[in-house]
Amino acid sequence: MITIPAFGDNLIYLYRYNQSDCLAVDPGECRSVLKILREQDLSLKMILVTHHHWDHTGGVAELKQKTGCKVIGGDKQRIRGVDQLVEDADTLPVGDAGVHVIATAGHTSTSVCYYVPPSPTNSSGILWTGDTLFVGGCGRLLEGNAKSMSESLQKLASLPDDTLVYCGHDYTLENYEFALSIEPDNQAVRQRLNDIRQTGQTVPSTILQENTTNVFLLAGTPELKAALDMPQAKDVEAFAELRQRKDSF
Ligand SMILES: [Fe+2]
Repeated sequence: MITIPAFGDNLIYLYRYNQSDCLAVDPGECRSVLKILREQDLSLKMILVTHHHWDHTGGVAELKQKTGCKVIGGDKQRIRGVDQLVEDADTLPVGDAGVHVIATAGHTSTSVCYYVPPSPTNSSGILWTGDTLFVGGCGRLLEGNAKSMSESLQKLASLPDDTLVYCGHDYTLENYEFALSIEPDNQAVRQRLNDIRQTGQTVPSTILQENTTNVFLLAGTPELKAALDMPQAKDVEAFAELRQRKDSF
């Protein structure tokens, strides 16, 4: 995986398959992607878009025009240049594995994530999560509600433990600082934050890491509800409260 930082905290990904073919995920801008395609002699075959926001789509039209690649997305109205509209459970032929589409409404109503299952060439699955799941966090509820977002997150959380998680922004430090503001004694989060401060390693995470340290995936646990002072709350109520507190953190 080639990770291309953009606009401060966005992450664009290039994923290589079939020797010199590659796909791009959420190219918010074009120039840096073209540069790497040239340097590494890669042929861009496909763009996967997780949602319509400009910082994930800004480079799509120009990349398509310059490379002739095919554009895949979950929204034809709001993403310019989509050739193939996808929905939940669709599979796209890519290399020897294929890419599975997982609909994940919440951040936007038409957000999708893309999952490559393990194969002979990739021992672990790969998940591109856009602005739905972040390392230690989740996206804002811009067009969805707490219920749709928490259901979307639970779909991702049920993927195999060793799945590698590649998210659309690196907000990792802030997310874990927020988690500690809610649960100051959470040793798993504290340890993770220390590790990251030492190594600078944030992305990729794994589904196991997220299931053990991402407070938004743990919102339904008695520990988290107690920390929120909502011991009787339904899981989705605890999630909504947590998301609201993060908005003003
Ligand atoms: Fe977004």
